[in-house]
Amino acid sequence: MNGQGNTEGIVIAIDGPSGSGKSSTSKGAAKARELRYLDTGAMYRAMTWWMLEHGVDVDDAEAVTALVERPEIVMGTDPEAPTVRVDGRDVATEIRSKDVTANVSAVSAVPAVRERMVRVQREIIAAARAESTGIVVEGRDITTVVAPEAPVKLFLTASAEARAQRRSKEIRDTDVAATQADLVRRDELDSSRAHSPLKQTADATELDTTGLTLDEVVALIVKLADEVRQR
Ligand code: DC
Repeated sequence: MNGQGNTEGIVIAIDGPSGSGKSSTSKGAAKARELRYLDTGAMYRAMTWWMLEHGVDVDDAEAVTALVERPEIVMGTDPEAPTVRVDGRDVATEIRSKDVTANVSAVSAVPAVRERMVRVQREIIAAARAESTGIVVEGRDITTVVAPEAPVKLFLTASAEARAQRRSKEIRDTDVAATQADLVRRDELDSSRAHSPLKQTADATELDTTGLTLDEVVALIVKLADEVRQR
């Protein structure tokens, strides 16, 4: 295959805090090389949405653990139109609500939730590899726990200001300062939790996206993937 075609069975693992540009750049790289795309944050958000919908106290880890296998969460991995369905319902909009965003760190800190999500994520990765399609997977523990053997591992960063600006645009929130405060709070929770915290490892390539455009970051990811494929 040449640089224009498919990157056979490759796994590209991307971690980083909210607003570091993971979602748009991961999707862009997947489109550019016809790979599958998995947004693992959407899976934790889907689980959180279901718990809230069923009146579960998300700060009660035992209550969350007792129900962890109940929701059926199905991810569509086409980067042109990724989908997330819970018990057959399309929850793409619901999982971006303020309520879900405020509670997702608590739910994603529960070990039983992580065990189930990691199991499903590995199944999705294995299916994409079996089809020889390859996949871009983004989240907080992809390079460390879900796919540490991935041949391309990236840790995206950006200044807190740049991340808040991007998130505010995404959620059409004009209050950038409040968004920044929420991001900092969530990063702190996601990085300090006992189970699979967001952590940068020495073998992941760090990419500071603060001064880069979306296309520039996508080009860098694609270049790394093509280099691995040509080895
Ligand atoms: O990427 P995001 O903001 O949509 O992720 C939502 C939350 O899910 C985030 O606060 C941390 C959690 N998460 C996680 O713990 N592990 C992942 N692999 C992905 C997301």
